[in-house]
Amino acid sequence: MKHFSSFQTGIPYCSNACLKPFKPNTENTMKTSELRQKFLKFFKSKGHQIVRSSSLVPHDDPTLLFTNAGMNQFKDVFLGFDKRPYSRATTAQKCVRAGGKHNDLENVGYTARHHTFFEMMGNFSFGDYFKHDAIHFAWEFLTSPEWLNLPKEKLLATVYAEDDEAYNIWQSEIGLPSEKIIRIGDNKGERYASDNFWQMGDTGPCGPCTEIFYDHGEHIWGGPPGSPEEDGDRFIEIWNCVFMQFNRDEQGTMNPLPKPSVDTGMGLERMAAVMQHVNSNYEIDLFGNLLKAAARETGTEFSMEVPSLKVIADHIRACSFLIADGVLPSNEGRGYVLRRIIRRAVRHGYKLGQKGAFFHKLVPDLVAEMGEAYPELKEKQEAIIEALRHEETRFAQTLETGMALLENALSDGRKMLDGEIIFKLYDTYGFPYDLTADICRERGIDMDEAGFEREMEAQRQRARAAQSFKADTQLAYDGQDTEFKGYTERKTEAKILALYKDSEPVNELNEGETGAVVLDNTPFYAESGGQVGDVGYIFAGENRFEVHDTQKIKAAVFGQFGVVSSGRLKVGDSVTAEIDNDIRDANMRNHSATHLMHRALRDVLGSHVEQKGSLVTAEVTRFDISHPQPVTAEEIAEVERRVNAAILANVAVDADIMSMEDAQKAGAMMLFGEKYGEEVRVLKMGDFSTELCGGTHVKRTGDIGLFKIISEGGIAAGIRRIEAITGLNALKWAQNQERLVKNIITEVKAQTERDVLGKIQANAAQTKALEKDLAKAKAELAVHAGAKLLDNAKNVGEAKLVVAQIEADAAALREIVTDLTGKSEKAIVLLAAVNDGKVSLCAGVSKPLTAKVKAGDLVKFVAEQVGGKGGGRPDLAQAGGTNATKLPDALKTINDWINNLIN
Ligand code: ALA
Repeated sequence: MKHFSSFQTGIPYCSNACLKPFKPNTENTMKTSELRQKFLKFFKSKGHQIVRSSSLVPHDDPTLLFTNAGMNQFKDVFLGFDKRPYSRATTAQKCVRAGGKHNDLENVGYTARHHTFFEMMGNFSFGDYFKHDAIHFAWEFLTSPEWLNLPKEKLLATVYAEDDEAYNIWQSEIGLPSEKIIRIGDNKGERYASDNFWQMGDTGPCGPCTEIFYDHGEHIWGGPPGSPEEDGDRFIEIWNCVFMQFNRDEQGTMNPLPKPSVDTGMGLERMAAVMQHVNSNYEIDLFGNLLKAAARETGTEFSMEVPSLKVIADHIRACSFLIADGVLPSNEGRGYVLRRIIRRAVRHGYKLGQKGAFFHKLVPDLVAEMGEAYPELKEKQEAIIEALRHEETRFAQTLETGMALLENALSDGRKMLDGEIIFKLYDTYGFPYDLTADICRERGIDMDEAGFEREMEAQRQRARAAQSFKADTQLAYDGQDTEFKGYTERKTEAKILALYKDSEPVNELNEGETGAVVLDNTPFYAESGGQVGDVGYIFAGENRFEVHDTQKIKAAVFGQFGVVSSGRLKVGDSVTAEIDNDIRDANMRNHSATHLMHRALRDVLGSHVEQKGSLVTAEVTRFDISHPQPVTAEEIAEVERRVNAAILANVAVDADIMSMEDAQKAGAMMLFGEKYGEEVRVLKMGDFSTELCGGTHVKRTGDIGLFKIISEGGIAAGIRRIEAITGLNALKWAQNQERLVKNIITEVKAQTERDVLGKIQANAAQTKALEKDLAKAKAELAVHAGAKLLDNAKNVGEAKLVVAQIEADAAALREIVTDLTGKSEKAIVLLAAVNDGKVSLCAGVSKPLTAKVKAGDLVKFVAEQVGGKGGGRPDLAQAGGTNATKLPDALKTINDWINNLIN
């Protein structure tokens, strides 16, 4: 899909001779808002209906993340599926182009024209006018003194190579000289794959197009469309006029549209730059004020040379418009793209020294600039501010720690950031991948993308494993249901209804055999709602069955799973079923504590916290919640304090069966997406907690005893797992901690608890100093060895080639290489080392030789052979690789490679 940012084109162009220098008319510039109005007014005067911009969230089009062109809202009209009361329309359309791993986001701030959000002005014909009128309208609007009055000699056009009709209109009717009409063919490797053939996506409406370019003048570098310099900033595409003729289907067949139509796009910001005689979009009036606001809020001096200010000014538009259209920051889909943009803006503020929440303070400035044209900004102003404030405050909490981790990782001068670190930044500190990429790019550091993907996959597997189910409990049974008496009884008299051995129904189960027992009634709780099944015994006189687990084998049929430990059981036997009280009590303490913890987490962290998984055993309660970042030590302490206060309040725990409607009225917490029956069980603990729950619970909260959180960590993006213990387990934990501290005191030979930390710190400092000395000694040794390498260098042409695998770390490699290329005017060096199965490479080329051989190319050449990539400066470059076994062969290839370059 071609958009406004990627504009490429055709053949050399006669520049100087046919152009009069264009003197910017600084007194007579047109504001962006005026330009927007003029466009709409012009096309209205040509019989077009002014249609409001559609939402940035496309309706009914799952193929599209965000609205990215003016024609999106008319897609079905072009296809003939939808009819409108008008056949000509004009719009100012909000567009967002960000999303996916490869998107414009990372370019924003560093180029003159990339934006996440931009406005596309468009005029459309639905089976009404076609090529002739479309080109005449464009020309009239651009050049007529009544409208934009652009000098005609500053404009040139491209047409699809086969489109003689468009070519002739430009030449014979408009009078454009032939050297200014550039034909562009299928220049992208396939039929119809061309800069001058526009299509919305892999399928859908499409057709040849003609584009109009504006020449910003000789003083700016760049060439006309199609020339090798076309990516420069001199010739800028300002208008794209698509002749919609086909509907491309999944097989790639071009089916003619019911009526040939027209779809045009004029990038408002870049056209405003033309009208205001500036080359960069960021210099137009609209951005000027936003840039000033960004400088004000970050405490930075205003300057066009600061990319971070441009990033912030750009991003406030995308973020505010997206929120106004109902997108909120989240971990998925559109919400995640929004989150990435916000976090990128916050990071750039941080880079400028602004560590507090500032981004939301730009919203009023944006509303002042654009609120009139887009009233939704004004209407939703407060909500936008609030959503941004919330998101940036939250991210600010981890940004600093994440940056420290990153700085630390890069402090050894490495040129490639490990996948593990990228993942840790992503998972623990909320750094989206492209945010880390942004930082690396600023510092010329490569990203270990493959390593990151590996970590992501490992995490997905962990999450899958965490969800996977226990034993197969599918047993064939069509008898009566089990009556569960375990809420009140711990021991019941019951009758055996069915027996299973290895999942097969049997009449008897003999000593030593494992299987399952189904009873008519039972005190055994079957695993559900996170609480594990009960354990205990089933007695039939002298015969005994040990119950190791209880699971539902059907909705209301409980299976007691275990082994006959003495005698035998028969179907029809009368039995006594008795649960293990200690284990059940421990389960209940943990389950009741879970409810209190759930409530406390929501109160302390925010109402975005939702239960994502739960497991309650006798030992621990393991609770998974949605939360975008680690729960801090202070937050954990506060949750513990609140839960323990509720325990000490010792309120009664009541369970009531009621209708779903009443439960909702009572404000019971329920899990989103979970199916509940008509009648539900509502569990209430005073004012602390009201939740739907079928589990077994303590009588009063005081029965829980001490509550303590023992671990917190991430298990998937945006999901944290918290583990806590209660009762005697908590006591045991405290005793163990005490023992540990005592052991540490003895081990570090401290006298008291107080000086134990001092001792540990002193030991650590000493170790660090020793490590430093050791590294220095190693480096000295290596430099020595390096000098020897030069003596043994091989002569290749005029160069001395040193290729060797040595024992050193990446930093030492770099030091030796720098030393060697410094010592000799003619050295070409490639040193390799293998540490923990990973290859480190460093290449160096003495300055006088860099014209012929570039260290970056050399290191890349070798890295590619050992499963890595890398690059760097012409005189010094580093890389890594994963395939150490290929290294010896790779080193052998260097001689020929250099020989080819030099001789
Ligand atoms: N739909 C055309 C484009 O986006 C006008 O370039």
